[in-house]
Amino acid sequence: MDKFLIKGGKPLKGKIEISGAKNSALPCLAAALLTPETVILHNVPYVKDLITQRRLLEDLGATALTPELRTHKITAAHIERFEAPYELVKTMRASVLALGPLLARFGQAKVSLPGGCAIGTRPIDLHLKAFEQLGATVSLEAGVVVARAPQGRLVGSDVGFEKVTVTGTENVMMAASLASGRTTIHNAAQEPEIEDLADLLNKMGARIKGAGTATIEIEGVEALGAAEHTIIPDRIETGTFIVAAAITGGELEIKNCNPKHLSAVIEKLRAAGVEIEELNPTTLHVKCRPDGLTAKDVTTEPHPLFPTDMQAQYMALMTQAEGVSTITETIFENRFMHASELIRMGAKIEIAGNTAHVHGKTRLSGAPVLASDLRASASLVLAGLAADGETLIDRVYHIDRGYENIVKKLEKVGADIRRLTGNMALAAEE
Ligand code: EPZ
Repeated sequence: MDKFLIKGGKPLKGKIEISGAKNSALPCLAAALLTPETVILHNVPYVKDLITQRRLLEDLGATALTPELRTHKITAAHIERFEAPYELVKTMRASVLALGPLLARFGQAKVSLPGGCAIGTRPIDLHLKAFEQLGATVSLEAGVVVARAPQGRLVGSDVGFEKVTVTGTENVMMAASLASGRTTIHNAAQEPEIEDLADLLNKMGARIKGAGTATIEIEGVEALGAAEHTIIPDRIETGTFIVAAAITGGELEIKNCNPKHLSAVIEKLRAAGVEIEELNPTTLHVKCRPDGLTAKDVTTEPHPLFPTDMQAQYMALMTQAEGVSTITETIFENRFMHASELIRMGAKIEIAGNTAHVHGKTRLSGAPVLASDLRASASLVLAGLAADGETLIDRVYHIDRGYENIVKKLEKVGADIRRLTGNMALAAEE
């Protein structure tokens, strides 16, 4: 298993380029199942989860070509299977995004019920309830969700989510695009990735209004067609590198980003003392005095408020801020695993239910630590960059799921970070 070896204490300086958004590319790839024509996606990040999603589409019978590393050409002309198999779903729950398109286009879909993951049980009950509101029958057979459209086609309807769900909103938006009649989604997720998916679907001939707000209107159409689309920049990768500059007392120019997609994060980091300047609509300039950070409380909420996917990175930063910060996680039930690893590095953090109290500023010292999920791994990399001495992070396959070339990107701006593979990784265990 690969490891990262980081020697901390070096302020980052230089330019970093942001990749395409993993959490937009995943539903956009699934959307290609809605048409037999070719969908071309540009700026798809070269990360593990997208390789898994492509494999899923190929398993179903689609052809997936990559004329360039970050361009995917998907043609779902000959779909022979309608089931997302367990071995794929268990490695990546975003496979559930195949459900809506298969159900809408073929009137049938099976997806193995995704197990939970480190951060929570991750149910999909709200997705399934919404499909039933669109006229589908849904049953659970030996751990596999079986969904069918009795008349072969879904029927538009009012769909109200009792909780905001990002992939639930995406699944229903895709399914409703081919339903007969109008669908209105109430309490829809408002993330930028929802807007990006709606942009793609409308390019394919869908008729969607209101994406990015809490109410989305969809007029179903008979068929969808070919489209070409460029995936938006990854707002969480952007936020992660802003924190990397701040936590090392460095200075970074972050390119190919969209600051509007992470305003709540930028606002909170500025309040904590990070100097963030928008040089132009796609470039941020970030710097932070080594002792310039002040503790600020944060609560994670659905977009446009502070995203749960930045909570772990923010916690790492708050260990370097003067004062006590209270971090409240309201989206997932178990998203503080990084705290125990940060404590091993010298952080002073008290956890009480879904609240963490971080006492800063504490000197961090490098230690062997364990990554548990994608964003927790990012938090440990950030702590390692700030810590005295060496940090050895194990199970970095978590980070490879959602951060493209993070070692190279960080090395380029002065970080002392190396990926240990094979025997080198084993030797590091001794
Ligand atoms: C998406 O997950 C993201 N993944 C997650 O990013 C992100 O953390 C999350 O949204 C919240 O922003 C992708 O987009 C691929 P939810 P998703 O449905 O859609 C509960 C990362 O790090 N819920 O918005 O699975 C659920 O348990 C990943 O990139 C139900 O109860 O999240 C959670 O408490 C991690 N029933 C809350 O709603 C359902 O049917 C929000 O979940 C669905 C969700």
